[in-house]
Amino acid sequence: MTSTRTWLITGSSRGIGLEFVRQLSASPENVVIATCRTPDTAQDLKAIASNAKGNVHIIPLDTSDSSSITAVEKPVKDIIGNGPLDYILNNAAINPGNDTAFEFALEDFIRTMTTNVAGPAQLTQLLLPYLERSSRPVVMNMSTGLASIGIDAGPKCNVYSASKTALNMLTYKQSKAKPNIIFYVVDPGWVKTEMGGDGAYLEPEFTVSNQLKLLHSITLEQSGKFFRYDGSILPW
Ligand SMILES: NC(=O)c1ccc[n+]([C@@H]2O[C@H](COP(=O)([O-])OP(=O)(O)OC[C@H]3O[C@@H](n4cnc5c(N)ncnc54)[C@H](OP(=O)(O)O)[C@@H]3O)[C@@H](O)[C@H]2O)c1
Repeated sequence: MTSTRTWLITGSSRGIGLEFVRQLSASPENVVIATCRTPDTAQDLKAIASNAKGNVHIIPLDTSDSSSITAVEKPVKDIIGNGPLDYILNNAAINPGNDTAFEFALEDFIRTMTTNVAGPAQLTQLLLPYLERSSRPVVMNMSTGLASIGIDAGPKCNVYSASKTALNMLTYKQSKAKPNIIFYVVDPGWVKTEMGGDGAYLEPEFTVSNQLKLLHSITLEQSGKFFRYDGSILPW
């Protein structure tokens, strides 16, 4: 019996997404479909793929562009054949900056909602038939503590926070609409990446290794919930 698992990850060119690819690619049991906006310039990702054992496939995907999302289906089919897609990690996102509810650019608001919410929604809808072939399909939507109203993080990062709170609700709705698939949102913590910036204290390696434990252990009963990277529950 094969124990191969197929993963599709968005935003794999750098940061947390790249670290997911790095850790997953170490096991030949993982087939990793690493998507990114511009494969040609994704040097770190290409280096991981070339050192892997043929189990990393790089395909282009821009989560702000619906035609780019639609175009993903063919290469995914070519890679998985009649097999399942076991995991989707909706990781790609943008944060246009430290705006407030009264100081933001409408263009940023729309672009952020498209990239961070509508894109992941469309991608998961598109790939649903392939997820449904899996014996344990899991969709992880990457959120943030800033999305939690319960945490009460104040006025900062208005547009980004609103987009991730919408992603939280999308995840809840996905879990209710498809009770045989595990959907969840996770806060990775404050991570040393381009988005995390200078003050961040967690290494990508640390949050990703913890998140992989959650990805492997989460059950259907926990679907639709909001987790911290260590598996504890966060308030909505
Ligand atoms: N770092 C933190 O402290 C932190 C905290 C809470 C939540 N998060 C969440 O964790 C996830 C990963 O963040 P990160 O820290 O790794 O950020 P990052 O270093 O800024 O990386 C973001 C990734 O998303 C990609 N991306 C941006 N727009 C895209 C688009 N339209 N289509 C496809 N890919 C796109 C980027 O690709 P390009 O190279 O093409 O730009 C890059 O690979 C995000 O969902 C973020 O909201 C991070």
